Amino acid sequence: MCGIVGAISQRPVRPILLEALRRLEYRGYDSSGLVTIQNGSFQWDKRPGKIRVLEDHLKGKNWNGHIGLGHTRWATHGPPTRDNAHPHFSCDEKIALVHNGIIENYESLKENLIRRGHQFRSETDTEIIAHLIEEHAKKNKPFVAVQKAIKELEGSFALGVMFRDHPDLLIGARLNSPLVVGIGRNENFIASDVPALLPFTKKVIYLNENEMVQLQRDRVTVSDLNGRVKRRPPTTITWDITSAEKEGYPHFMLKEIFEQPRAVKTTTGYYVNRKKSCTEFAALKPVLKKLNKINRVIITACGTAWHAGLVGKYALEELTRLPVDVAIASEFRYGNPVLNKNTLVLAISQSGETADTLAAVRQANEHGALTLAICNVVGSSITREAKATIYTYAGPEISVASTKAYTSQLTLILLLAIYLGRARKTITKQSETKMIREFLTLPKKIEAVLKTDQLIDKCAAQYRDAPNFMYIGRRYNFPNAYEGALKLKEISYTHAEGYGAGEMKHGPLALVDNTFPTVAIAVQSSVHEKMVSNIQEIKARSGIIIAITTEGDKAIDHLADCIITVPETSEMFSPILTVIPLQLLAYHMAVKKGCPIDQPRNLAKSVTVE
Ligand code: AGP
Repeated sequence: MCGIVGAISQRPVRPILLEALRRLEYRGYDSSGLVTIQNGSFQWDKRPGKIRVLEDHLKGKNWNGHIGLGHTRWATHGPPTRDNAHPHFSCDEKIALVHNGIIENYESLKENLIRRGHQFRSETDTEIIAHLIEEHAKKNKPFVAVQKAIKELEGSFALGVMFRDHPDLLIGARLNSPLVVGIGRNENFIASDVPALLPFTKKVIYLNENEMVQLQRDRVTVSDLNGRVKRRPPTTITWDITSAEKEGYPHFMLKEIFEQPRAVKTTTGYYVNRKKSCTEFAALKPVLKKLNKINRVIITACGTAWHAGLVGKYALEELTRLPVDVAIASEFRYGNPVLNKNTLVLAISQSGETADTLAAVRQANEHGALTLAICNVVGSSITREAKATIYTYAGPEISVASTKAYTSQLTLILLLAIYLGRARKTITKQSETKMIREFLTLPKKIEAVLKTDQLIDKCAAQYRDAPNFMYIGRRYNFPNAYEGALKLKEISYTHAEGYGAGEMKHGPLALVDNTFPTVAIAVQSSVHEKMVSNIQEIKARSGIIIAITTEGDKAIDHLADCIITVPETSEMFSPILTVIPLQLLAYHMAVKKGCPIDQPRNLAKSVTVE
């Protein structure tokens, strides 16, 4: 997620902007920039890298403008280069803006603007907004020009806009991306998030959807997109900085668990054409010819990403009828894999920097395989070595324990399976349409699962002292047995194992007694009855059962000690829902055990070494 800040004051704003940007660093970013107005001209600089790189380049520059905008970029369109960093400008360089969000219809708008003679300097979606405002500014005053321009945008945006010839006006606007107004003494501010404002004011106004704001030094005017003024009394923030960065959540992990509806929705929005009810992967165009010739798939990853790959195996085999293997990257890289130009090697990585996965991609490239990356960080090492990359849009994942990146990886690999199934004609248009229709209901269904948080907290309290846990599942939910166990291990330091439920009789059943909880993922599916049998086996040996079941399914009520339900969905998509209770169970267990949560002992967010 990008971060935007803006300030209009009686004093030079450059130090204000830099301090505000530093308060947004927790959001994750790859570039930063700022622009001020002084003596009728813009002073600006923007640089890839951390804010200190920008500050180094600002040294010695005597910029004292009293109005300005700042930005930290989390790349989505185009790698982290200087041209792609914000601020962006109109052709006539009379308009400067910064943006957080994604403009979904930017390509058609850009084509139209190019036809009108506009020239672009970046690969970003953002830059088209500056040129669009420039068009409208030919016949309208600044505020109306911005109004008219944003009415043409589809997607999400929080904007800060300045006009070089109007140094007494700073304009903000928001749709599907947060923007907060800070009310100071003879100075006013905008920011993506409260932490950026707290050094200057605690009086804030949270803009609502489709609202705009005009900032002068001594006045703030909020209006709707038609210019109708809205009375919005400020509220006073009582948070401290640390809790503000987590938007009031006690830990980044919990914040990121609750961000999953948006992460899945944003990622889906990138690859589903709602109007045509089909999947679209523009990033695969350069490799489409090779993709159409593949006769085998190997998925390689580590940790949670490997679990996503295991789910991907089921979906890809079911929808494309291609043979799929899944290899732990640390094994793949030292093996002697049988690869050739007709093998697709799919590398999954949130960070794009995991050493073993990067090495696996290089190994696959050396063998002439087609390498494709699923990644959450634009421009990361794995994306630069794979022949093509499709991105998840989960936003920066701060907590070491991966949650929203995982459900975004599942989203992406399931949509990819649908896409390849259509390309190979192994699924019909009708089944694609049906699957997409169900897929679009998932964000709301994730929200429904999140509402069971308190029940899960109680369940965690009940079993917090159990020294060992078993997690079991079958088929699409077998990988989530691994994922649930990993979550519990890595943040609560409680031993847990994930197992295919059918394996219990082959050994693990010996562990079962009345001190041993088993988390059984037993939602409606082709193997539901088998899961019920496995649960009965465990109950017959006085085992404790924590069951994840489908809303309305009563088959397990009499067998389980704790039941957490998820809404009905297809078996293929159910891992996106069933993992949520497992994440929350691990989180609450860890909190009750006094563990540090976001930075577990011995672990790093990105394992860039072997
Ligand atoms: C998962 O919660 C862990 N943080 C870890 O297993 C992680 O999934 C693994 O290190 C892979 O990281 P990547 O997705 O960034 O490659």
